[in-house]
Amino acid sequence: MAAQLVDAHGRVHNYLRIAVTDRCNLRCVYCMPEEGLSFEPDSRILSYEEITEIVQAAAGLGIKKLRITGGEPLVRKGLDRLISMLSAIPGIEDIALTTNGIYLAPFADRLKAAGLTRVNISLDSLRADRFAMITRGGDVSKVLAGLRASQRAGFHPIKLNMVLMKGINDDEVDDFLRMTLKESIQVRFIEYMPIGHADSSWRAAYLPLDYVLERCSRMGLDYRPCGEVYGNGPAQSYQFDGAAGTFGLIHPVSDHFCSSCNRLRLTADGSIKPCLYWSDEYNVRKHIGNPSAIAAIFLKALGAKPETHEMAKALAGQQQTQSPTIRRMSQIGG
Ligand code: GTP
Ligand code: 5AD
Ligand code: SF4
Repeated sequence: MAAQLVDAHGRVHNYLRIAVTDRCNLRCVYCMPEEGLSFEPDSRILSYEEITEIVQAAAGLGIKKLRITGGEPLVRKGLDRLISMLSAIPGIEDIALTTNGIYLAPFADRLKAAGLTRVNISLDSLRADRFAMITRGGDVSKVLAGLRASQRAGFHPIKLNMVLMKGINDDEVDDFLRMTLKESIQVRFIEYMPIGHADSSWRAAYLPLDYVLERCSRMGLDYRPCGEVYGNGPAQSYQFDGAAGTFGLIHPVSDHFCSSCNRLRLTADGSIKPCLYWSDEYNVRKHIGNPSAIAAIFLKALGAKPETHEMAKALAGQQQTQSPTIRRMSQIGG
């Protein structure tokens, strides 16, 4: 039987999220501090050859799906070269990209030709001034151009990720929901997570996703749960009757989905992170050149994977059982 990465809680892991850089051309308020972060020197970042070698070992253990993240993956030069290298690895069936979309338009065709199968784009506001405020300087028209170019390149389904924040973009939920009526996309509302920042500012802006379903009811349109939209993501999907697109809810804080977690993470500086939330990491870079040692690190990280995170305890201000990560989201890759 083919190898499988099954953890102590019976979860099969076939999905690896790969951060290719810790750098980003934006500084979204929920992800980076205003002053920015000091980025790793190039020498500490995995080369494309090293990433490929790690994925070869992972594919031998049953990893089939990859997601390229960052920071912002498109700030790294020649990403299509990495995609081609990864798509040639036997056993890899799906290679997706999570991007802020700013640099996407001129590259969409090239990425598709290299073997990229799917694109998820971060978009937290449809209003130019507000988008610039949330991203600290981003131009929403470039993201929308990236979306259109991805549609023309034939990516499907395209998912838009909207992090819901109280008092910041919660008044745009209806506009995002309406987008799904005509556009064949999935809009995903994501709960704001306490990853790497002070509890007080996070709590003030956190809003549970029940709010989105309340808005749906107020809009007076019928909607129903729909089957999984292709991908392996944690979203629960819904669709308005007769709509071209769908919407998804990713609610790690109010209702976690840890029992179905199928993912491991590779950080840009070469560590395996078994859980987004906790601080545990296992350096795999030091084993480059030794495939069985790389495989052993995957198994070690899997063995240490906790059954659940405790974001809900963070919300309630309760004592947690381990130390949450101090990495910012841009250093993990979501
Ligand atoms: P699909 O395969 O297309 O469904 O992708 P995905 O949802 O796994 O990937 P994406 O990068 O678009 O994830 C969207 C967001 O969901 C991330 O940026 C995170 O905010 C959140 N997310 C993804 N994976 C996890 C996870 O394992 N745990 C938690 N708590 N949040 C996650
Ligand atoms: N909470 C929720 N999602 C976050 N992201 C980054 N930081 C956070 C956070 N604190 C996700 C967003 C963004 C992607 C790159 O990472 O979905 O679109
Ligand atoms: Fe950059 Fe994405 Fe973080 Fe925004 S959310 S700062 S686009 S990595």
